[in-house]
Formats: sequence, C-alpha cells, structure tokens
Amino acid sequence: MSQGRARLGVLVSGSGSNLQALLDACAREDFPAEVACVVSNVPSAFALERARKAGVRAEVVDHKAFGAKADFEGALREVLRDARVEWVCLAGFMRLLSADFLAHFPGRVLNIHPSLLPSFPGLHAPKQALERGVKVAGCTVHYVDAGTDSGPIIAQAAVPVLPDDDEKALAARILVEEHQLYPLAVRLAVTGKVSQDGARTRVDAQATTGTLALRSPGMPR
Ligand code: GRF
Repeated sequence: MSQGRARLGVLVSGSGSNLQALLDACAREDFPAEVACVVSNVPSAFALERARKAGVRAEVVDHKAFGAKADFEGALREVLRDARVEWVCLAGFMRLLSADFLAHFPGRVLNIHPSLLPSFPGLHAPKQALERGVKVAGCTVHYVDAGTDSGPIIAQAAVPVLPDDDEKALAARILVEEHQLYPLAVRLAVTGKVSQDGARTRVDAQATTGTLALRSPGMPR
C-alpha cells in the first residue's frame, strides 16, 4: 500500500457486498483510501471471508460477548486503534454506535442505507418503500450520528420502483447503486471534497458540482 492513503476500518455484520465494492475501489491505484481492517460483530459473516481473500485484516468483536454496550464499543475501538484506522465505514453493520464512540472519530464515520433518506430509516427500507407505494427508491451515504440513519447526507442514487417489484427485486436494484455510490462518497469524504459541519454536510462546490446529484440509471421516461 502506498503512503498517504486514508485508512478505513469497515464494520460489517453480514454478506459484505458493500465491503467488496470498497475493497475493489481500494485496489485501484488512484483511489485515495485503503482498507486497514474489517471488523464484524457476527462471527459467521461472509464479509470476513471477503476481507481475508483480499489480504485484509479481519477481526470479530462479538457484541454478545459483552454485558455492556460501552465494553463492546471499547473492544471495537481497540481493534480500530491497533489498525491505525482514521475513517470508519459502516457496511451492513447492524448495531447502533453511541455518541461516545462517534466522538473518537469526529466527522469520520460513514454509513450506507438502502433508501432515499430521510425516508425509510431503520430495518427493511426497501420493504417500507414498497408498502408506501413510492415510485422512486434508492440509497444514501451519510455521516453517522447517534440516531438511526439520521446523520448529514453525503450522496444519493435513485432507482425506479417497477410495478412487479417485490422486496428482493427492489433491494437488488438498489444494491447495484450502493456499490457505485459508497466508493464515490468515500473518495469525496477522505479527500475533503465533502465534510461534516455539525448537522450538515459541507460541499466543496467547485470540486463536486454535479457529483452529488441523483444518479438515476435505467429510470424510465
Ligand atoms: C445494504 O443494503 C446496506 O445499505 C445496508 O445493509 C445492506 C448490507 O449489504 N446498510 P452488504 O452486507 O453490504 O451486502
């Protein structure tokens, strides 16, 4: 790994397809970040396999092994500190992080969520979108605050909701966009083109005009 790249710690709980997108992006020479370690709170998460295959340090910090959340987060921080992680990327990580944890990485914790926030935070976002009958769905990368999917928005991508969609079909269409959007947002964040400014995202307009607009491939006219 060349010097000067931002060191990412990617937190996962499951399949890790977004982790894979980040690993693939980081494998490109011109990408300004590298994955320093992957931490899963679920020992059986396939994401760990992806990390190992990419030659990246993979650790389990099982929340079930800790009585108090603070202890779980302390163990998490220990691994991140040991791996000299500068930025934390949540990629299908199914635990809420406390304000205390976040304070150790101010403005440096990102998450990806499969809805156009602020609509449909929380679990089963594509299902929520279908139940609500929206015609446009999508995904969001945002800074993490102590709420659920409530931090300042960095980037969004949109997909159409089609008449025959079930949850699986819509989630799969959104996931394709997630894999494009997360590396884009990480690039913007670690290069300072966007930054967290309290409850808002500050954008370097000169550098990112257009980049943060909705991407809507396949949108029927
Ligand atoms: C993605 O839909 C992501 O937006 C959400 O959880 C899912 C994780 O999928 N937070 P994967 O583990 O990255 O495949």
